[in-house]
Amino acid sequence: MEERKGFGTNFGFLMAAVGSAVGLGNIWGFPNKMGASGGFTFLIIYLILAVLCGFIVMVGELAIGRKTGKGAVAAYHALSKKFKWMGWMGILSAFFILFFYCALGGYCIKYVILNVGDLFGAGFGAEAVYAAAGDTSKSLGDVVFNTFVGSSGEAIIFGLIFVVITMLIVLGGIGGGIEKVCSVGMPALFVMLLICIVRACTLDGAVAGLKYMFVPGWAVENGIIAEAPDFLTVLSTAGGQMFFSLSLGMGAMITYGSYLHKKENLQKNALLIIIMDTMVALMAGLCVMPARFALDPAGNIGGPKLLFITMQNVFHSMGTLGPIFGILFYLLVVFAAISSSISLLEVIVAHFVDDARDAGKGDKRKPYSILAAIAAGVLCVLVCLDGLGENGIAPATLLNIEASGWSDCWLDFFDCVAEGILMPLGALLMCICIGWELGPQIVDDECCLEGNRFKSKAFFNVCVKYITPIIMILILAGQLDSFFGLGWFS
Ligand code: PHE
Repeated sequence: MEERKGFGTNFGFLMAAVGSAVGLGNIWGFPNKMGASGGFTFLIIYLILAVLCGFIVMVGELAIGRKTGKGAVAAYHALSKKFKWMGWMGILSAFFILFFYCALGGYCIKYVILNVGDLFGAGFGAEAVYAAAGDTSKSLGDVVFNTFVGSSGEAIIFGLIFVVITMLIVLGGIGGGIEKVCSVGMPALFVMLLICIVRACTLDGAVAGLKYMFVPGWAVENGIIAEAPDFLTVLSTAGGQMFFSLSLGMGAMITYGSYLHKKENLQKNALLIIIMDTMVALMAGLCVMPARFALDPAGNIGGPKLLFITMQNVFHSMGTLGPIFGILFYLLVVFAAISSSISLLEVIVAHFVDDARDAGKGDKRKPYSILAAIAAGVLCVLVCLDGLGENGIAPATLLNIEASGWSDCWLDFFDCVAEGILMPLGALLMCICIGWELGPQIVDDECCLEGNRFKSKAFFNVCVKYITPIIMILILAGQLDSFFGLGWFS
C-alpha cells in the first residue's frame, strides 16, 4: 500500500499549525475585540480561556489525529461509537469557512497589487483608481473598496486565484507543499509584521491606539463604544475569538496531528501553537491600532472594512513610503490567509485521499485536491458577487427580511454556520466524546509515547470532563446570540 507521508520535522509541523491558527481573525478580530472588551483585562480572560479550553481541545484534537493517523472523518469513525459522524461536521465547517476565506484572500492579493501600482504611479494603483472615480466626498479607501467590490468580475478573478494557489500548495502534499510553504511563509510574516509595527508605533498619535488596545475603560471614556460590555459578554467574546483563532472544533488540528511523528511532544506543541497565535494577534494589534488612530481616526475599527478601507487610507496618508508599507502589510495578510486556507482544504482532501488509499486505489491527492478546490470555488464566487453585501444579493435582501448578524451578507451567513454553530458544537462534542465516551486515558497514552511525559494529565482530565464543556456551552450560546441577535448577552 502507498505510504502516508507526514511532516518532515517538528518545526515544519509547528509552522503549519501556527499558520493555520494565524489568520484573518488575528488581524481584524482580536485587536478590536480586545479594545472594545476591556483592554488588558480582556487579554487576561482570553489567556485563562486559552488554557482552560483552547489547550484542552488542542491536545485532544492532536491526540485523536495522531493516534488514528487519519483525517477527521476516519478518526472519529475509528474511535467512537456515538460520535462516528463528527468528522463530517468538520468537513462541512471547512467548506463554509473556505467560501469566504478565499474571497477575502483574493481581496488581499488585489490590495497588494493596488499598492504596487501606487509605488510605480501606475494606472492600476489605488491613487489612480481614486482619481479616476472623481468622487472626493468619500475617502480614498471607501472609493477604492467600492469600485473593487462593485466590479464583481474582478473580485471573482482574485478569489479564484486565491483558490488556485491554495489548491496548488495542497496538491504538493504535506511535506512537499504545506510544510515547505509554511516553514518559509510564517517566519517571513513575522518579520514583515515587525517592520509594520515599528512604522505604526512611531507615527504621531500612535499612543491612542495603544491605549485603546490595552487600557481598561479607555474605549468607553473616549466615546469609541457606548458602554462597557458585562462580564459574561466579555467571556463569550473572548471564548469565541479564542477557538476560531486557534482553528479548533473542525478537524484542522486532528488532520495536522495525524501527520505528526510519534516521537514529538503533543503537550509542548499545543502550548507553543497557542503562545505563538496569541503573540501574533497582539502584534497585529500593535500594527493596526496605532496606525488607525494616528492616520484614520474616524475609520473602521474592526472587521473586513478595517482591513480594506481604513488600512488603505492609512497607507495613502503615509506619503511616499505608504505603498511600500502597504505592500508589506497586505502581503503578510495574504500569507496569514493562505496558511489558514491550506489547512482548511487539507481537512477535506485528507479524508478522501485516505479513503482512496485504504481502498487500494493508490495516491489520489491530485484529483481530490482539484475537486475540493472546485467545490470551494463555486460558493466563493457567490461571496465575491455579493461584495460584503454591497451588491444587493445578501441573504436578507433575497429573503426580504431585516438584515441581522447572519444575513447581512453571504460572508456572514457562511461564517455563522461555521464559526457560530458547527465549530463550537464540534469542540463541545469532542470534549464529551473524549471525557465521557472514550475516557481521557486515551489522550494520556498518546501524549506519553516514546518517552514523552504528559505533565498536565490531571489538569486535562478534570477540564475535558467538566470545565471545558461548560465553557464551550457558554461560547456556543454567545456565538448564537451574536449571530442571531437573541439578546441573551448584553
Ligand atoms: N484560525 C484562523 C483565523 O484566525 C481561521 C481558521 C479556522 C483557519 C479554522 C483554519 C481552520 O483566521
